[in-house]
Amino acid sequence: MIQSLRGMNDILSEEYERFEYFLTTASTIAKRYGFHYIETPLLEETALFKRSVGESSDIVGKEMYQFIDKGENDVCLRPEGTAGVVRAFVQHKLDKKGGIHRFYYNGPMFRYERPQKGRLREFHQFGVESFGVDSVYEDALMIMMVADILKALGIGYRLKLNSLGDQNCMPAYREQLVGFIESCGDAICGDCERRKLTNPIRVLDCKNEACQILYINAPKLIHHLCEGCQSDFDTLKTILDQHDIAYEIDTNLVRGLDYYSKTAFEFVSDNIGSQSAIAGGGRYDRLIEFLDGKPTPAVGFALGIERLMELIVMPETVREGYYLGAMDAQAVTPILLCAEKIRRTQKAVVEYEPRSLKAHLKGADRINARYCAVIGENELAQNTIWIKDLVEKTESVIPMNELLSLLAL
Ligand code: HAM
Repeated sequence: MIQSLRGMNDILSEEYERFEYFLTTASTIAKRYGFHYIETPLLEETALFKRSVGESSDIVGKEMYQFIDKGENDVCLRPEGTAGVVRAFVQHKLDKKGGIHRFYYNGPMFRYERPQKGRLREFHQFGVESFGVDSVYEDALMIMMVADILKALGIGYRLKLNSLGDQNCMPAYREQLVGFIESCGDAICGDCERRKLTNPIRVLDCKNEACQILYINAPKLIHHLCEGCQSDFDTLKTILDQHDIAYEIDTNLVRGLDYYSKTAFEFVSDNIGSQSAIAGGGRYDRLIEFLDGKPTPAVGFALGIERLMELIVMPETVREGYYLGAMDAQAVTPILLCAEKIRRTQKAVVEYEPRSLKAHLKGADRINARYCAVIGENELAQNTIWIKDLVEKTESVIPMNELLSLLAL
């Protein structure tokens, strides 16, 4: 039997209800914040991710679904959504137009990681990207939006916050950090040895415990921010305080993608095991020019939908629509005609096989219908239909025309 690939899951109906509930909730909130939907391709040129997410990142270095297509193009399945949205922004010359552009998106992402609970090779993100706003208020807006989405879904979280500085303060700090890493000699792991040369700050979130112990005394960027970055970081904290959004400063939060500067944040849950990051994001003011666009400030985030699935508190389901069943083979035709009309305004699910009333009532229960409508021999003869309201627990037999006019059809 052919199985789905490792780390790639089907989403079946019941689970999809959660998935859909998440998407509806998150999209409604994003629209309320003034964001517009954007859809970008799943497949992009590999160079896009090398130049944005960065060659030193694990995502590009180790985890890309990369191949040469039939036209000899080096392509890969997108490992994240930001790069594609930035490409579209530049390609459609919105950078030249100026002004503010706010997008939201959702869809599958692909990373060739070692699958485990909460870590898939195909997973889904809901993300937003905001272009053209320099102010740290927009960073706060991003965090507030994630907090709103999680609150609407009944999900508790911890928010981790850091500042990664900018081109004024980062180079000097990087030099200091490299000096510190060198002072550790060969006690650091092979990955950190590589990171020292490519993107030294990534050593700070090394998963190797021995490295983490060594880095306790590493210089912290947050103590070396330039005036502008420090002032923005202070303002951000004040805004979050004013909005009662609790946060923890995490000086090791450097994010796994190379494009960030200034604000970096991650929302984590303590209830889903080791893969605890449920959302991540930050500012990336340099990325648009790295991808040949006009320099434009930008900030965004993405939520990992699979990691949220088990945390979502679903609203109580309400019975809705009709279940229609025949108790006699002759009754199938009127049942189908009736269902077709009802479906113009609400749910109408038909059971074609003639069954007993008890079986039909069970069927109505199974699909959570509000009404169970049945036609048997008697109803057929009198052109009526038997209906039970499964909420009010009332039953009646009414002429077919009456039902349709009751439904205003
Ligand atoms: P990221 O932190 O790499 O950021 O991913 C965002 C979220 O996607 C994570 O917090 C996690 O919930 C989920 N996620 C990541 N990898 C996996 C996986 N293998 N299996 C299941 N879930 C996963 C980004 O992708 C950035 N593009 C976010 C961003 C948008 N920054 C600015 N704008």
